Amino acid sequence: MINLDTGNINNFLREEELAGIMSKALSGLGSLNRREGAGSDMLGWIDLPRTPQRELEAINDAAKRIQDENDCLVVVGIGGSYLGARAAIEALRRDAPFPVLFAGNNISPEYHDHLLAALENKRFALCVISKSGTTTEPAIAFRILRKRLIEQFGREALAKRVFAVTDPAGGALRAMAETMRFTSFAIPPDVGGRYSVLSPVGLLPIAVSGINIMEMMTGASSALNLYTREKSGNTALRYAARRILLHEKGIQIEVLSTFHPELAFLCEWWKQLTGESEGKAGKGLFPASTVMTTDLHSIGQYLQEGNSRLLETFLTALQPRSDLVVSPDEEDLDGLNFLAGKNLGEINQKAFQGTFEAHAAGGRPVMAIEMPSVTAGSIGHLFIFFEVAVAVSGRLLGINPFDQPGVEEYKTRMFRLLGKPGVS
Ligand code: PA5
Repeated sequence: MINLDTGNINNFLREEELAGIMSKALSGLGSLNRREGAGSDMLGWIDLPRTPQRELEAINDAAKRIQDENDCLVVVGIGGSYLGARAAIEALRRDAPFPVLFAGNNISPEYHDHLLAALENKRFALCVISKSGTTTEPAIAFRILRKRLIEQFGREALAKRVFAVTDPAGGALRAMAETMRFTSFAIPPDVGGRYSVLSPVGLLPIAVSGINIMEMMTGASSALNLYTREKSGNTALRYAARRILLHEKGIQIEVLSTFHPELAFLCEWWKQLTGESEGKAGKGLFPASTVMTTDLHSIGQYLQEGNSRLLETFLTALQPRSDLVVSPDEEDLDGLNFLAGKNLGEINQKAFQGTFEAHAAGGRPVMAIEMPSVTAGSIGHLFIFFEVAVAVSGRLLGINPFDQPGVEEYKTRMFRLLGKPGVS
């Protein structure tokens, strides 16, 4: 269950403005619930938390096979075919003992060279994820890694060691999966990349890492029940309404700040979800993120006193899963005995409160999204919370939050520069 601390936001908004946008947010949610409006053919993500048990079990079975027969898994994918799994695995590192590496999210020779070196003498499997099956970055990485796999284990190992997650019918990867007899999973055609973390796209790598995907889906399901309710107390709507109203009043940037470094990739996932969904027709908050307290010593100054057209949303977990105590020191040469006996979690919480107060005092609109603790269930819950909030934000902005025409532009230009046949 997520709590929204609205901080000082209401000081920037008038009551009647808030009431007006809340009523628009309610009707935006209504249109999503009725599967209407822009992008209504891409609303399959709403059904993902209700994925039948047998489909989740098939994912768990494949994950178990990968764990039993390998030392590590390399996940090949980019954007929505990468960030969700990485976000969950980084957030839940303590529940994810099986090594999962990532490739296909860049074209850096240095990166791939290191990866190949790390795979030397390792038994590894590949999980290649691409809805279109034609995205350049993962296609290149897959070719490189496939060659290595054949060199290390022979061509006959492909069927056993490659797992493909792609469109059920079309695209180069689907055709390849069938020809080479990879184990494959389908991405529902009505689920876009950045809304696909609770499909096999995210769930297979997450399950391989060791995280309990059943628990994650239970959290997602409880979120779906809460955040699809057409009620003014709906936390996802309250968040969406405030951020978009501030945007209408001149705020240009939303910074998602967290005091939990394990949530850094969750912030990256959020940046893609919001940026690709909302950045259209000259509209949308520019999504940025910070990890505290690290960034208090770099861009904290800017957040306190820089450009004022910026909203700061804190993402916090109230209860740490483990804690450490600062011990007393007889000599106290560092003068730190005033903290002796305190937990790091408590000190971190005070750093958050101090920052929240300081940035609010600096005239910055601040609010906080609070989750109880970082567990598989709460991460599943958070995924749905943000997906609903961003979909509703799209309705408030009057854009289609489920397409990404701008991404196609660079792809075409790059293909042209590289001389891809058929691209002019
Ligand atoms: O959210 C999206 O739709 C995109 O970010 C895609 O996930 C990304 O471009 C990768 O596409 P694909 O899965 O087709 O390789």
